[in-house]
Amino acid sequence: MAFATRALRRVLGPAAGAATLVVAAATAVSPPALAEPAPAKEPAETSRDRAPVHGLIGAIGNTPLIGEPAGPRASGPSGTAAGCAAALAARRPGAERASHAGPLPGFSSLRATRRPCPCVARWPRPAPPHRRTATAPRAELHSLSAATGCRILAKAEHLNPGGSIKDRPAARIILRAEQEGRLPAGGGGTIVEGTGGNTGVGMALVAAARGHAAVLVMPETISTDKMDLMRSLGARVVTRPPVPFSDPRHYVHTARRIAEATPGAVFGDQFESLENMRSHLEGTGPEIWRQAGGRVDGFVCAAGTGGTIAGVSHALKERSPAVRVYVIDPPGSSLAAFVDDGVPFPSDGGTITEGIGIGRVTANFASARVDGAFRGSDEEAVAMMGYLLRHEGLFVGPSAALNVVGAVKLARVLGRGKTVVTILCDGGERYRASVNKPGYLQERGLGAAAAVRHAEGDLRFVR
Ligand SMILES: Cc1ncc(COP(=O)(O)O)c(C=O)c1O
Repeated sequence: MAFATRALRRVLGPAAGAATLVVAAATAVSPPALAEPAPAKEPAETSRDRAPVHGLIGAIGNTPLIGEPAGPRASGPSGTAAGCAAALAARRPGAERASHAGPLPGFSSLRATRRPCPCVARWPRPAPPHRRTATAPRAELHSLSAATGCRILAKAEHLNPGGSIKDRPAARIILRAEQEGRLPAGGGGTIVEGTGGNTGVGMALVAAARGHAAVLVMPETISTDKMDLMRSLGARVVTRPPVPFSDPRHYVHTARRIAEATPGAVFGDQFESLENMRSHLEGTGPEIWRQAGGRVDGFVCAAGTGGTIAGVSHALKERSPAVRVYVIDPPGSSLAAFVDDGVPFPSDGGTITEGIGIGRVTANFASARVDGAFRGSDEEAVAMMGYLLRHEGLFVGPSAALNVVGAVKLARVLGRGKTVVTILCDGGERYRASVNKPGYLQERGLGAAAAVRHAEGDLRFVR
């Protein structure tokens, strides 16, 4: 926090107070000049009891941490069954069932159990007991750990109900607005958000479950898979050209204007609202600490709003100040320069990743406790996507792959024997119309990175 605030003060000047720092980016824009479309509004449902947080909305978070086994490590062809049995034996008999079909060809070590999720009801209003039975797969992999000599753990956020890490802030922002009376707790309100895609999916899901309308504004370059998903969930999707933040047509400014023009609507404001980082401070971070057995030496992830790295960095450093936190920044983003020099300055190039990299310092990122920055390339991200698919059976999106690239870099910095944690932000199925579409990478000069089949443990493609 102190680091980030000092750095932001270098940009804004010593007279800038805390509130100035928080709102600086958000207020640097002229008033709206565009006519905005009137958002659709669902009829209010007045008779429903909205008190319980039903089903999987209450299960957001508590995702599995992929990595070393909880029980004794077994190896060899029969190791998977032995590992599952040992892990199960360490727990209450009858509390869970194991499903195991033997080693999977081509995967270094993918193990799965199904177990009752112990904290389905972490949200303010608990789900009824009969609903607290959602199960979450628990998988283990170790090819990256073996190759780096570190324990590399990945938080499987792509297994959230809406398919990404952004379910957490999406749910928190909406439920908090209900608690504070800004959205009607019985449904019938409207949430408006500017989104790089995944927060939009999360908000569309939560809004549908809570009876609200969702209006989601995003750059027109976002993968159409995400837009289709939001529409399927009943949300209204508004697209804008991918212009700089200083342009009033920017999707965040557009979303704010739509919210202001819509009676009773709430602007989610995920970039500046610290409810975003709190969803990770109280959820993701403590879960990581617990699931890693209180042994974390380093954490690394890319940042879009900065909510994940802010919340997780605080949560981990509160538990152990020695934890080293790094951001990995994609091409074109300004955050690595900000961490290194205190001034946000864009690196060269553009990126195929979505939802990460930004040209300004948001309130969420400003509050992060970051020790250092890596620069990651699209080539590394694409190569890691292929590596994870072939050797770990993980089909993840490009930002998740870049995070794993960051984990390898951080393992090299920290040295052997350390535990490094990162985030799998979303899954590869969300990019069928972009990165995973035949020809897409080739057209962008990334065909070679996608074609090379790196052997298990060969991480030389991480620079
Ligand atoms: C795919 C993906 N990865 C990573 C992030 C970054 O997370 P955060 O906004 O918490 O920095 C986002 C944000 O939208 C995202 O969509």
